[in-house]
Amino acid sequence: MAWLWGRGKRHQVGQIEAAGDGRRFLWLGERRHVADAPYVLPSDDQEINRLDFQHYMLRYALRRNFAAPLNRPASILDIGSGTGRWAMEMAQLFPNTNVIGTDLVEPKADNLSNGIGKRPDNYTFVQGNILEGLPFADGTFDFVHMRLLLFAIAKETWPAVARELVRVTRPGGLVESVETGPQRDGGPAMDTLVQWITEASARRGVDPLLGPHVAGFLENAGLKNVVKREVLLPVGTYGGRLGNMAAADVFGVMTGVKQLVVAQGIAEAPAYDAALAQVRIDLDRMRCTLPFYIAHGQKPK
Ligand SMILES: C[S@@+](CC[C@H](N)C(=O)[O-])C[C@H]1O[C@@H](n2cnc3c(N)ncnc32)[C@H](O)[C@@H]1O
Repeated sequence: MAWLWGRGKRHQVGQIEAAGDGRRFLWLGERRHVADAPYVLPSDDQEINRLDFQHYMLRYALRRNFAAPLNRPASILDIGSGTGRWAMEMAQLFPNTNVIGTDLVEPKADNLSNGIGKRPDNYTFVQGNILEGLPFADGTFDFVHMRLLLFAIAKETWPAVARELVRVTRPGGLVESVETGPQRDGGPAMDTLVQWITEASARRGVDPLLGPHVAGFLENAGLKNVVKREVLLPVGTYGGRLGNMAAADVFGVMTGVKQLVVAQGIAEAPAYDAALAQVRIDLDRMRCTLPFYIAHGQKPK
């Protein structure tokens, strides 16, 4: 069995790492994944860096952190909060609001001695698993936000997840979802990578094509006045600085799931690398795009 280096430590391929709080991680190549959840993407320092980068890319592209018509919310919940970047920015924007981020995995604090990176006092992290029900009472939050959990939720679980979002929202409160979908017009090599990643996801019960359907799940869960919007980001230098950012993000995701695809025997590592190299050549010629699906609605009073 091969040994590889991750986070400065030596890890056997397929090695299980137990975290002190009972969580377990699975090492695949040099990438660490959560062991006991369908989540397809890695959960390691490299992925934290990508999520931070992606947050700034989305804020730049969408020009703000939310689309719902917020009116001085007293409480906000961010589900699958990742690095906590979105929740902490919301806590800074609304200093009188109680903002909670919840995720399977608590992100490391920045811990800089000069105070830079200190978490806002009105922001708290609470460990939680959206698939097992959230540790909050009915009707707790004015605004419930969930962004980019598509690779974490098994297809048949989506209706229950949407009901859970609505359950923890107060009557009259708002829910917002932001999801993505496969790249479009990336060329044949991109289509092959998307097919491999879709297959790897399907083996965990996850369907990465559900992004445009989340608005419908929220409506079925009882939300009213649902507004939905699709935003297409350019991927590649043809799209200027935003296009370059989106390309870096897309390659971050595709590189991140390579070991999972290889471990599942869906593709060999050299074939995966060759497809990635071809995508770099094709992107601009094909004018590739990456969709984001934004939906928000209100829980009836
Ligand atoms: C792609 S990241 C998105 C993070 C953040 N929402 C953002 O937009 O930057 C998905 C996050 O969902 C978390 N996650 C995966 N499965 C989860 C679950 N069952 N319950 C709660 N969080 C989960 C992961 O740990 C990861 O931080």
